[in-house]
Amino acid sequence: MHKNHILRLLRSSRTGYVSGAELASTLGVSRTAVWKQIKAIERDGYGIEAVPSKGYRLTASPDLIRIDELRSGLATGTIGRDITYVPVAVSTNTTAMELAQRNAAEGTAVVAETQTGGKGRLGRSWISPRGNLYLSVILRPEVPTHKAPLLTLMGAAATANAIRAAAKITAGIKWPNDILINGRKVGGLLTEMSAEQDRIRHIVLGIGVNVNMELTALPDEVRMLSTSIAAETGAPLDRTSLLRQILQELDRCYLAFLADERSVLVAWRALNVTLGMRVVVSGLGGTVEGLAHEIDREGRLLVRLDDGSVQAVAAGDVTIMKRKP
Ligand code: BTN
Repeated sequence: MHKNHILRLLRSSRTGYVSGAELASTLGVSRTAVWKQIKAIERDGYGIEAVPSKGYRLTASPDLIRIDELRSGLATGTIGRDITYVPVAVSTNTTAMELAQRNAAEGTAVVAETQTGGKGRLGRSWISPRGNLYLSVILRPEVPTHKAPLLTLMGAAATANAIRAAAKITAGIKWPNDILINGRKVGGLLTEMSAEQDRIRHIVLGIGVNVNMELTALPDEVRMLSTSIAAETGAPLDRTSLLRQILQELDRCYLAFLADERSVLVAWRALNVTLGMRVVVSGLGGTVEGLAHEIDREGRLLVRLDDGSVQAVAAGDVTIMKRKP
């Protein structure tokens, strides 16, 4: 890709400057084509100074995810064995679904710096400013479709564990897969699936984590309930390290799931902040209020209503009414 090549040449220049003519001849393109690439590099967040008699000079580099460093230090068997980096994606889930349809390998990960059409659960959008993590991973488990929700719970457990390890802060999970720090949402997961009859063809596990963004990037109504890792710890977090940790945790949890799917429920329970709480669950079928007392083998939330009956909820939004005593 020309942009990367130009950046390499600018970084390795002894004087700091590289002339447009030199870039054009090294790349084998016209000077106008070089200029267009320079403009594209600036749009990616780099600062480039152009001095007529000297050429171009790199003045500032954005804080980007370092994919080469990530690849070289990654200790996983399946997850992240292919990584597609898209600086600006519409939605990493959409890119990953397209790659999966074209037979991309299991474990392929799509990573973006920002999304223009980020998707959230229940048809909502996911505001995706720069400074956060946007990741989607392709899975091809040989399990029936009704097991798919377990993979989302698995992803939530892996993400919460990775945040704990990388940021040294307690992250929990609110059913089904909201990642919380100090009661505020710091991340979420969206799973999309392609299936035939009762067989999963592929699943895309989409993970969004608010890492270093300014909270003011969120609309008021979302900001009240949200947070970022940096806002909670008081310091920016290296996103490359967090991403590596998430991929490694996903790899470990996915292997455990394939060996014994009950491992997901064990991991999820250990991190959840929902069970034992009085909750209101609003879903497609209306609202349910009661005690969240268990999740079943398919990941549904079992709510004990005040009349003693138990209702299994497959999808919805949980509001926690009371803290655990
Ligand atoms: C939620 O509503 O809590 C789920 C949010 C999931 C967001 C992630 S960001 C990466 C991936 N791409 C998307 O468009 N959505 C998911």
